[in-house]
Amino acid sequence: FRPKLLAGEHVLVTAGPTFEAIDPVRGITNLSSGKMGFAIARAARAAGAEVTLVAGPVHLPTPRGVHRIDVVSAQNMLEAVEAYASQTTVFIATAAVADWRPAHSAQHKIKKDGSGQVPALDFVENPDILARMAASAQARSGQLYCVGFAAESDDLLAHASAKRQRKGVPLLVGNIGPATFGQDDNALLLIDAQGHQELPRASKAALAHQLVAEIAQRLRHTRAA
Ligand code: C5P
Repeated sequence: FRPKLLAGEHVLVTAGPTFEAIDPVRGITNLSSGKMGFAIARAARAAGAEVTLVAGPVHLPTPRGVHRIDVVSAQNMLEAVEAYASQTTVFIATAAVADWRPAHSAQHKIKKDGSGQVPALDFVENPDILARMAASAQARSGQLYCVGFAAESDDLLAHASAKRQRKGVPLLVGNIGPATFGQDDNALLLIDAQGHQELPRASKAALAHQLVAEIAQRLRHTRAA
């Protein structure tokens, strides 16, 4: 009998894009499909964890046995994550959270008045959900393990290593280009305090299982320390 890799863990995963409203019918979003995050949620469940998946607007079926919460904006996503934070032991942030949102969302649809004038958009910064969870992980010394993701267009290792430090997470996972939005396969670069390692191109489902095994191994080391 081999116990499952994540038995007893409470895994919280964010996935997909966020949608930041401009008015009731318009908004700003991005091309994240949510596929990697959903695959990770499914793999974590298969590894025996209780899994909560906080999903932005995506068109994907809920993995069996996974508790899913649908959200729209980054602020909604933060609220959902914070509601589960205290019971979470592993947080995996795969969501492509919008960095900025319109400073004001109009109550009514903004009308084109025929004068040729265009509306101006002001932005404010969204909360960094991962950085906040990483800060609370520090406070909970060793009881919460945080994993971040990075999509970079160039010099992935340098940028992703810097991001790992800046966000304050033990493990940062880089998407090895070209952009994998909507694709069914991916390749990953795992960066931790010891160094880096590549998970070569494979289906997102296969990579999710490998990543879960890598996380489980690091979790055991952290707990043993
Ligand atoms: O700073 P950047 O967006 O490149 O960082 C990517 C990582 O941070 C991902 O793990 C993403 O889910 C997370 N993130 C977040 N909240 C934000 C921005 C990014 O959780 N507002």
